[in-house]
Amino acid sequence: MTGNRMEASTQSAAVRIQRFDPDVDKKPYFRTYHIPVTADTTILDALDAIKQHQDGSVTFRRSCRHAICGSCAMNINGRNTLVCNQPVRAHLDKKNQISIRPLPYLPIIKDLVVDRSSFWEQYLKVKPWLLPPDGVPEKEYRVSPDEVAALQNAETCIMCGACYSACQVVALNKNYLGPHALLKAFLRVLDPRDSQPGQRLQQLDGDYGVFRCHTIFNCIDACPKQLNPTEAIETLRKLIQKRVTFAAAREVRQEKLLSESR
Ligand code: FES
Repeated sequence: MTGNRMEASTQSAAVRIQRFDPDVDKKPYFRTYHIPVTADTTILDALDAIKQHQDGSVTFRRSCRHAICGSCAMNINGRNTLVCNQPVRAHLDKKNQISIRPLPYLPIIKDLVVDRSSFWEQYLKVKPWLLPPDGVPEKEYRVSPDEVAALQNAETCIMCGACYSACQVVALNKNYLGPHALLKAFLRVLDPRDSQPGQRLQQLDGDYGVFRCHTIFNCIDACPKQLNPTEAIETLRKLIQKRVTFAAAREVRQEKLLSESR
C-alpha cells in the first residue's frame, strides 16, 4: 500500500474512557485519548494501543479477542456489547468520538473492570449444570434433533454479563436471578437428559425468578450473540403453569432414553 493510500485509510478517533481508581478518585471521570484507526481497528485494539503507547494505567479485561470468552463486555456509547469484535469506526459520532464505560449497575473495581460477583452468585443459584437421573449407562444418551434445536437459543451464551448489566430489574434488585441465569435454567429445564425440571421450575416460580422480569427487552438488545433471554423467560413462565405434568412427561421420556441406551 502506498503512503497516500495508507493515510486515506486511517482516521483520527477521540476515545473517551471512563476512569476511576477507588484508591484516589472520589468519582468516575472521562479522559480522552486520540489515536489513528483503520476500518479494521476494533475497540479492543484501540484500548490496547492506548494502554501500550499512551497510558499504561488504563485498566480493562480481555482474553480471547474472538467473542468467545465473554470477558471484554463494556458499555459503548450507552449500549452494552463486546469490544473485541466491534470496529471503532462503527461507533464514532459526528465529532469522531467514542465513549467507553464499564458495564453499568455493577461496582467498579477500576476503570472498565467491574465486580461480577452478583452475576456469578445468581448463576450458581439455578444449578446450571446437568442433573442426570440415576443409572445413566456409559453408552450414547440419544436425544432427538427437535430437542437439540429447542436448546439452541441458550446454548451459545458466553456469559459476558452484557444482558445482566443492561437489565433494569437487576439494577433495582440484585436478588433477581437475572436474564443470564434464567437463560441457563431454561437450557437445563428443556434438556431431556435433566432429571429435575419440576424442582427447577418450582425454584424459578419464587420471588426473584421469572415473574420478576418486567419484559423490558434490554437483555435482547444487549446480547452480542443475538440470544433471546426474554423468550426463554416467557417459555419458563408457561412451563411453570404445567409443572407437574411437564415433570411427569420428563420421567417417561427419560425411561425411554435410558432403555434405548442400554
Ligand atoms: S476478549 Fe473474549 S469475548 Fe472479547
